[in-house]
Amino acid sequence: MAIDEISVAKSERRWATAMAGVSAVMLGAILYATLGLHLNPPSNVELIDPATIHVSGEFAEENLGTRLEPTGGIVTRLVTTQFSFSPACVVVPQDTPVTIRVVSPDVIHGIMVVGTNVNTMVIPGYVSRVRTRFTEVGEMLMPCHEFCGLGHSQMIAKVRVVPVSEFKPDADGRAHCAAP
Ligand code: CUA
Repeated sequence: MAIDEISVAKSERRWATAMAGVSAVMLGAILYATLGLHLNPPSNVELIDPATIHVSGEFAEENLGTRLEPTGGIVTRLVTTQFSFSPACVVVPQDTPVTIRVVSPDVIHGIMVVGTNVNTMVIPGYVSRVRTRFTEVGEMLMPCHEFCGLGHSQMIAKVRVVPVSEFKPDADGRAHCAAP
C-alpha cells in the first residue's frame, strides 16, 4: 500500500502532539518544584538572612566550629564564603552522630566529604543541614563542589575525625582543631 501524504501528515501530527505533551509534563514538574516546593537546598527548608549571618545569632564567629550542645548532640557550624570556609578545620568525634549546619552570605557554594553522605549545596538565604557519622579516624578534605568564582579551586576545608576519647570540648562545649 502506498504511503500517501495525508497519512504521513497525520503521523507527524500525532508525534508532535505526543512531544508537546511530554514537554508540558516536564515544564509542569519544574514549575511545581520551583513554586510549589520552593527552591531550597536538598536538606531542609530553614531560612536565614544572609546579610546578618556574621553579626549575630547562630552563625556568629563565636558559635562556629564543633560544639557539644547542651542537649548532648554534636553540631558543627560553618560559613562558606568566596573563597574560604570559616572555620577552615573542624574536629569531630569518631562514630558519633554529627549534625553539620552550613550557611553562605554571598553566593551558592557546596560541601562534600568523599566517602560520606556529606554532599549538599549551600544556598544564600537557607541553612543547609546534613546528619552524618564519620567512621574512620583521620583527616578528611571537604572541598567546595559548586563553582563559585575564580578562587573556587582553592576553597577547601578539613574535617579532623578523632577517637571519642580524644574529643575534648572546652567549658563552653566547643571543640577546636588541634595544631597538626
Ligand atoms: Cu565555594 Cu566553590
